[in-house]
Amino acid sequence: MSKSLRLGVNIDHVATIRNARGSAYPDPLRAALLAQEAGAEGITAHLREDRRHIRDADIAALRAGIAVPLNFEMAATEEMQAIALATRPHAVCLVPEKREERTTEGGLDVAGDDSRLAAYIAPLRDAGARVSMFIGHDARQIAASARIGAAVVELHTGHYCDLHYEGRFAERDAELEALREGAAYAHSLGLEVHAGHGLTFDTVAPIAAIPEIRELNIGHFLIAEAVFIGLAPAIGEMRRLMDAARA
Ligand code: PXP
Repeated sequence: MSKSLRLGVNIDHVATIRNARGSAYPDPLRAALLAQEAGAEGITAHLREDRRHIRDADIAALRAGIAVPLNFEMAATEEMQAIALATRPHAVCLVPEKREERTTEGGLDVAGDDSRLAAYIAPLRDAGARVSMFIGHDARQIAASARIGAAVVELHTGHYCDLHYEGRFAERDAELEALREGAAYAHSLGLEVHAGHGLTFDTVAPIAAIPEIRELNIGHFLIAEAVFIGLAPAIGEMRRLMDAARA
């Protein structure tokens, strides 16, 4: 199994800060370029239906401006499919989206919507995108992702991180075990395995140590930590912790 573990940096929250003031800064592209220089192997950006952080122009600027792969996160809507087909990102990660949520709360129900999603991802695959499903560790969702022809599953680590910070360590460890089993099962079906959501310096190591996982996507904590230590040092430390866990 490959030892390499990529770090994708999610720069949505740079846009959140920009939009809070309606200013032109901070610029998500500038953050992406800095992240790339600091060792990020991919940039993730989520164009939400309500455009609360990343905007259409940011996606175009990122696509034109960065040298590392762009992972375009989006809901499975017709509007987003058209934007993805026009943008031609390296990867498309399909996420569930609810207007009232603060962040992506759960995984996508691939099993419950498999025929629509199979048809939905076909043109994206034909256009050369690595299509990823953001799901929980549930075997049904993993099997459905493989069945519809997704190349990748990204396992949602948000619940594991919440349990850690709530001090519910026995439940956290059970969740971690379920993530491990999910990663192994997905890998056995030929899916590439990614993980992300809520990861921090405190929670990344056990996830980075799961051998089937090839990529972590991390955003909120890195941008938050950048307030104190700067974006490049925050990314550098995350990279160091990932490498140490993998060694
Ligand atoms: N992966 C996916 C699919 C996400 O939706 C998000 C949040 O936008 C992340 C990873 C990163 O989560 P966080 O910002 O909590 O690190």
